[in-house]
Amino acid sequence: MKVISSINGMQNWSKQMRCKGKTIGFVPMMGYLHEGHLSLLRKAREENDYLVMSIFVNPTQFGPKEDLGRYPRDFGRDKKLAKLCGVDVIFYPEAKKMYPAPYKTYVEVEDLSDVLCGKSRPGHFRGVTTVVLKLFNIVLPNTAYFGWKDAQQAIIINKMVKDLNLPIKIKTLPIAREENGLALSSRNTYLKEDQRRQAIILDKALQVAVGMIQSGYKDPRRIVAKMRKMIKSQKTGRIDYVEIVDMNTLKPVKKIKGRLLICLAVFFGKTRLIDNAIICA
Ligand code: PAJ
Repeated sequence: MKVISSINGMQNWSKQMRCKGKTIGFVPMMGYLHEGHLSLLRKAREENDYLVMSIFVNPTQFGPKEDLGRYPRDFGRDKKLAKLCGVDVIFYPEAKKMYPAPYKTYVEVEDLSDVLCGKSRPGHFRGVTTVVLKLFNIVLPNTAYFGWKDAQQAIIINKMVKDLNLPIKIKTLPIAREENGLALSSRNTYLKEDQRRQAIILDKALQVAVGMIQSGYKDPRRIVAKMRKMIKSQKTGRIDYVEIVDMNTLKPVKKIKGRLLICLAVFFGKTRLIDNAIICA
């Protein structure tokens, strides 16, 4: 397994492989790998000749008051796990090489970036789409893999790929969870023990919502109200949003019908957790 930090070095490696007719699977990450990340690596390993993973804590997707400085990092551990998953190359660039001053160019997917997480994290998705497009241009993958854990991110990236005619296939894989239902996240390491225990309510609330839809409830307001009540029953949780939205527009639906995303963001202390469920009604 190689670690490549230089942008030219990465592009050259990928060009050579593509010239030989080999396929490249790509999994972009910020690091501090957990089982959710590994599930993406394993799938990408299965489906491609070569597997590239990037580790880059992307400054442009963090707000000024967010956790860029304290985002968990452990490159040594990530490297070992990557090797076990059969990664061929870790692309590990420096921020000043990715964004040489004065940096001026950004890509933005309109509307979809302003709702849900985009509302409470202005500029976040502009940072995500910019870095993902840059990484695609550097790694030149055939297929890139993302997790449904970040459903809005996956939907926005799919839209960017479609709108900009990028010659890349996007695959989105299911959310990996702890046995108790808590969605795996690098940010779970911030949680204190009682917060971690109380955060289990998020998956429970999603399951109750899915159950209500399956048993015929049609009014999203009643379902959201039930979810909010469940989450509020846990002392430490502070709701950012709980919504049921259309999978294509990310707009709240008035009636339960079609392909829907039930999604939420809840603070436990300073830690903001997101989770979701997809359902066809
Ligand atoms: P990061 O949070 O490190 O996540 C990397 C990838 O792992 C994303 O596609 C994310 O959806 C997926 N992932 C995280 N937790 C998961 C879980 N429990 N189950 C399944 N997949 C999971 O998302 C980012 O990084 C960044 O925004 C990035 C795309 C790398 C751009 O900087």
